[in-house]
Amino acid sequence: MDSVDSVDEVDFVSEVLAVDENVGSGPGAITTDGCAVDFYTLLPTFGEPEIVHAAVPAGASILELGCGTGRILRPLAALGHPVTGVDDSPDMLARSPDLPRICSPIQSLRLDRTFGAVVLASNMINAEPGTRREFLATVRHHLPADGIAVFQQSPPGWFETFTGDEPTRDGPGGIRLIVRSARWEPPRLRAEVEYQVAGTVWTHAWTCYRISDDELASDLAAADLRFGHWLSEDRAWFSARPGKSSVAG
Ligand SMILES: C[S@@+](CC[C@H](N)C(=O)[O-])C[C@H]1O[C@@H](n2cnc3c(N)ncnc32)[C@H](O)[C@@H]1O
Repeated sequence: MDSVDSVDEVDFVSEVLAVDENVGSGPGAITTDGCAVDFYTLLPTFGEPEIVHAAVPAGASILELGCGTGRILRPLAALGHPVTGVDDSPDMLARSPDLPRICSPIQSLRLDRTFGAVVLASNMINAEPGTRREFLATVRHHLPADGIAVFQQSPPGWFETFTGDEPTRDGPGGIRLIVRSARWEPPRLRAEVEYQVAGTVWTHAWTCYRISDDELASDLAAADLRFGHWLSEDRAWFSARPGKSSVAG
């Protein structure tokens, strides 16, 4: 593996897309960020609800930003949390008629209430830095002084492994992931992946940004948040609290 300062490109099937835009293809509705609604409907959980549940007070109300089909939120409701989901895709939200939900961009969401916990999962915090900071401002707006935010990121060390791993990976739920292309130009990773489930194929081309610990601390502070704790050994999950602080660690 080259150093993190180099460009590491792997082309397996197609050219890397030139645009810094998230797009998808395949059967059914595709969201504006390229997610396939039918694919997310099939996707099982991978311990996300349990991590969130363990991090927040029992019975805490939970707002999930970018909730999709309610994949994470529905088990949290079953664990005793009053939940609310936000997504800008009506097609995603249509898959969770059983849950309270709001169709809105995260960036402009300003409800006149707060929640015991706000969740931003699915590595959405790895968005382009300006968008990330807008997401964090929305997180903070919906937290009371004693509230807790729970985040799932692609941890800094993951980016080199993504480009270096095998192009085909078989995961739980009969889901095969094929990395069609991956271009690592620190701090940005551009990838195009293919998901295969029981003969159905979806593609998703996306860009995500590595977040250094310093950048994380300063972006949190700019949103009047401070780092709390790592919630998983791989540093994918962490908590934050309202109020200024200094160091992520
Ligand atoms: C990767 S999916 C994750 C869905 C869900 N958290 C899960 O893990 O199953 C990202 C979701 O966020 C939504 N989304 C992306 N950008 C958004 C934005 N700026 N505002 C609102 N929703 C957004 C998409 O429509 C999609 O449903």
